[in-house]
Amino acid sequence: MFKYFEALEKLKACGQEHLLKYYHELSKEEKEALLSQILDTDFSVVRVGKSDEARGVISPIPCTELDRINARREEYERAGLEEIRSGKAAAVLLAGGMGTRLGSDGPKGVYNIGVTHDLFIFECLINNLMDVVKKAGCFIHLFVMTSDKNHEATVSFLKEKDYFGYDGSFVHFFRQEMAPAADYSGKVYLEEKWKLSTSPNGNGGWYSSMAKGGMLDIVRANGIEWLNVFAVDNVLQRICDPVFIGATKLAGCVVGAKVIKKAAPDERVGVICLEDGHPSVVEYYELTDEMMNAKNPDGKPSYNFGVILNYLFHVPELHELVNAKMPLHVVEKKIPCLDPEGNHVKPEKPNGYKYETLILDMIHLLDSCLVFEVEREKEFAPIKNPTGIDSVESARALLKLNGVEL
Ligand code: UTP
Repeated sequence: MFKYFEALEKLKACGQEHLLKYYHELSKEEKEALLSQILDTDFSVVRVGKSDEARGVISPIPCTELDRINARREEYERAGLEEIRSGKAAAVLLAGGMGTRLGSDGPKGVYNIGVTHDLFIFECLINNLMDVVKKAGCFIHLFVMTSDKNHEATVSFLKEKDYFGYDGSFVHFFRQEMAPAADYSGKVYLEEKWKLSTSPNGNGGWYSSMAKGGMLDIVRANGIEWLNVFAVDNVLQRICDPVFIGATKLAGCVVGAKVIKKAAPDERVGVICLEDGHPSVVEYYELTDEMMNAKNPDGKPSYNFGVILNYLFHVPELHELVNAKMPLHVVEKKIPCLDPEGNHVKPEKPNGYKYETLILDMIHLLDSCLVFEVEREKEFAPIKNPTGIDSVESARALLKLNGVEL
């Protein structure tokens, strides 16, 4: 009974007592599950409506463009391979997202994009990483972030496929945390009478989730100094690219961001810039017309480079970010829930908010960033939608262009 009163007090303090509405109808196990979830949940993220935080002064950031990279490619590659061979570089796959736009039920990585044979998204990524493994002559630790919604499915799929030829002892799974999801007035939904509606808390918490999941023991034990963090859905990206690692190290930067030249001023990619003199990323939906149309004295667009969610972080500086306050992004979403009569609802339109922190906001918390251009046709084929822009269709065309058999 003590736990019940503890939970009730916590809920009263944040106006969420309705979550105990069905408590007295529940079985002993269900009561226990609900109370534990309430006690573990951070309700402070819940807010009413969107409240965008004001931005600082934005100015352009210099980019290391392809011609400059190509002039020093061999030197960068040598330096990067040295880091990899001495075990100092590892990869972090962000695979905790819901992939709602793609609309498939399983984790995004198990999506089969093959045409004449099976080719899974996870398989494409592992093939890309294997290119570096072969070149360096050693395996690279790969940390995989999942969420409560897709953990079992992800782990069992990769095990069943024998990690597509990767050495399983170098693959480590950890779960990200969940955040409560609420209606438009800030009341957290129930998904079941004994369970709050939750959603993965965004990709910004990856490092603190690594810490909570015990991954930093592996990082420390192996002397890993660089973490290359990448999204699950870009099937063309180079992972632990030695040229990128070497360039970031030789530039003395604490983070590197792979970027592409934007295809159009309003392309839906986050734009890299300086904000109050620090590296920063402005999401495409926050871009002002002024930023979109700004030109340098040479006539080129001032904000011409978009991030592709492939970052290289220097580990020592990450430790300082574990408890840093990150901006919270409030995203409208379709949230499965119970209606006032306690019936299950699977909404067809958004019915509330989820709360996320984003990895791109970590860039602003760090002092120096190497903005590293890559060729978009060779390294950028994101799969967000089934058809159209950034889709299975467009990724297949780009894979073909790069000689991948489908
Ligand atoms: P997206 O922004 O594309 O989100 O994630 P998503 O949830 O996968 O897809 P939609 O918006 O519902 O269609 C970019 C990357 O960040 C990861 C995703 O798995 C993807 O690799 N991510 C996103 C997480 O790991 N956790 C999250 O909570 C959100």
